[in-house]
Parts: sequence; C-alpha cells; structure tokens
Amino acid sequence: MPKIAYLECSRCQNQVSADAPQTLCPRCAGSLYVRYDMDELKRTARPEDIAAKAAASPASLGMWRYSAVLPDVAPVTLGEGWTPMLHSKRYPGLYIKEEGANPTGTFKARGLGLAVTMAKHYGLKHLAVPSAGNAAGALAAYAAAAGIAAHIFMPQDVPFANYVEGVIYGADVTLVDGLISDCARIVGEKIKAQKVAGAPPSETWFDISTLKEPYRVEGKKTMGYELVEQFGWAYPDAVFYPTGGGVGLIGMWKAFEEMEALGWVSGKRPKMYALQAAGCAPIERAYAAHKPTSDFFQNAQTFAAGLRVPKPYGDYIILDILEKSGGKALATDDEKILSSILDWAKNEGLFLSPEGAAATAAYDQLLVSGELKPTDTVVLFNTGAGLKYTDMTAEAMHLRRPGSLPTSLSVGGIITPV
Ligand SMILES: Cc1ncc(COP(=O)(O)O)c(C=O)c1O
Ligand SMILES: [Zn+2]
Repeated sequence: MPKIAYLECSRCQNQVSADAPQTLCPRCAGSLYVRYDMDELKRTARPEDIAAKAAASPASLGMWRYSAVLPDVAPVTLGEGWTPMLHSKRYPGLYIKEEGANPTGTFKARGLGLAVTMAKHYGLKHLAVPSAGNAAGALAAYAAAAGIAAHIFMPQDVPFANYVEGVIYGADVTLVDGLISDCARIVGEKIKAQKVAGAPPSETWFDISTLKEPYRVEGKKTMGYELVEQFGWAYPDAVFYPTGGGVGLIGMWKAFEEMEALGWVSGKRPKMYALQAAGCAPIERAYAAHKPTSDFFQNAQTFAAGLRVPKPYGDYIILDILEKSGGKALATDDEKILSSILDWAKNEGLFLSPEGAAATAAYDQLLVSGELKPTDTVVLFNTGAGLKYTDMTAEAMHLRRPGSLPTSLSVGGIITPV
C-alpha cells in the first residue's frame, strides 16, 4: 500500500499535506485529490498481482484488492466493492455494473468506506454528512463499524429505507424540510457554531460532504479500476453513470489517469455519460448550454432521490470530463425512468434503482437516435438496489399493499411497541 505523497487541488494544483485531515483547498476551495509517488508505484504495483493477492488474502476483500493504489492505512471494511459485471440478455454490448450488491445496497459504500477508514486513521470522533439518502446510510454503517459518531442530515422525504438504516446503525438522524443543499447549509452552520463556541477538536464535527474532503472520490475510483480489470485490463467504449454530485464519474476518471500512468491500460478512454432526471438536471442544462459550471436547479423534484442534487460542488470537474471524453449529459423524466425499471425487472431480472434506470432510459434513447449501437461496449452503473426504494417505486406505480402489517413487533413471543 502506498503512502500518500500529498493532496492536490483539482482547480489550482496547490499541494496540501495529508498528515492531518483536510477539507477543501485552502487557497481556492477546490476539491482535493489524493496523489502518490507514481514512479515508485510503477516499480512496485503490477496488475497481474491483484487477482492473485486477492485470492490469497482476506485483507484484500472487495475494493481493497486495489490496496496497491489506496492509502496505506488499516481498512474499515464491510466487504464493499468487487461487484458483478452483468451482461445484458438483450443488448450484446451492454454490461450492468451491479452496485446494489454493496453493503447498504449502494455504491456509496465505497466512498464512505474509504472516508471513514481515513477518519479513523486521523482519530476523528464525529462525522457529519448532508445526504440525498444513501450516503447517509453508508456513513451510518461504516461509522458504526469504526466506533465513530455519525450525524446525518437528509431530506424528510428520502426513501424510508434511508431513514430506517440511519436509525438502525445508531446514527444521529435529522430529517430536513428541504433538499441536500439545505442539509449542507445546516451542517456548515453547525460546524461553524461549534468552532465559534470553542468546542475541542475531539467534539467538533468533521464535514464528510461529497467532494469537500478527498477520500470519498478515492474510494469511488475503485469502480474505474474494477471495470477495467473486469474487461481484461481494457476500456469499454462508454460508461453510463447516474450523476448527482458526480463523485463516481470523477473518481473513475482519476482511476483511468492513474492506470495509464502505471501502464495498466491503454487506448481510447471511454466516453463518459452523465445521466440525470429531468426534474433535477443541473449538469444536463449546463452541458447543453456549453457552460463550464452549473446553475442552481430550482424546485428539484424526482423519485430518483440520489439525483436530487440541485448544484453539484464538483460541477466544473464533471463538465470538463464530459467534454474531454466526448461523452454527454442527458436527462430523463420520471415516467420513462419508471418504465425502464419495469422493463429491466421483467426482461432481465434486475430491480434497478431509479437512478440506475435514469441511465438505462437514456441508453434506450441513444439507441433509438442511432447515436449508440447495441454492439458498442457500454458499462452502465446501477448505483443502488431497487429494493431500497420500494416505497417510492410503489407510490410511482400507484401500487397498494394488499394487507396491513402489525404496528408492533413480536420479539420472543412478547409484543413490543415500536
Ligand atoms: C443510488 C444513487 N445513485 C446515484 C447517486 C449520485 O451519486 P454521485 O454523487 O456520485 O453522482 C446517488 C447519490 O445519492 C445515489 O444514491
Ligand atoms: Zn486550489
């Protein structure tokens, strides 16, 4: 495992030490990337060792099979990563990267797994996150595994599973009458107030928001390593990624850059497609208007809860990647997203998350327009398990529960009020 050489600003290339926990670039507030000594890595890390090491050691569980390119610290792991790459039954070039197989049922496990690992390494005691829902659930799980307190803030209308998992894992859960942007403001204000009140560092919350600390991207970059390894250390033609904050897209691009520097992959990088819901499509709007950053998307509304991010912090990075890769951003309305969920469930046996179905719906659209051929190799991310959204999906389908459940739980024959 390599030592981190330094953290580098994605905007002004300022270098910051990784000896202490960091948030944003102190010079320009850009997001920070983890950097290693690539010459040293090139000498020591070889792709052919990865599978062999993973088979030989339980310490290489899941995404930690890529420990050769991850920070040299003791992992807090629940088995995240190394998810299935499923071949579509209908489209010869299409592969679904099934991230619903992760702990807590979404790809958020990768980013939060690594961010909590680093928080434990730094000795942080309190982590706070504004979330569209799934990041909160993942933080709650990994914080519980690490013995760290989690303070989660999410919209009051998140999928019920996100509320339940937060409570079950013992997090401090606040439901907010607003969106993730309101949650982010509240977290920021609380941390500021703690600092003004002179709270000791051990009691002050650390903000683990998307792209406001360097390690969630670092965890999500493993999706890029994985898809290339699962393709035999080669690139597909395109990657379809349901985009809210864009962390996975940014992380995968970083992985491609690193793998090329290490000589692990070559050839043309995949076109990166950012897929959004029409009810909250700041990146799609900025892309269509050829703007380098996005505008705040007013009245964001979609049942693809993870895509309700009205102003992604890393918009400038996402838009730059779309342009450099020759990909694009597309938005799909909720009706088409729901149809795509039903289509994939009935025809392929996959219960996609609404976010994943925003990507499959866009894929259909590009096949119809002729921009894509069914034989083009595409890796499409189903970022979460559809089962986390039974309430939202059932509501969208006007599906009613046939009977009613008891309002109390029976434990050992005793009825316990809940
Ligand atoms: C299931 C799911 N898909 C996609 C996203 C968007 O993720 P990102 O912030 O990496 O763009 C989220 C975010 O909450 C999510 O929960
Ligand atoms: Zn900077």
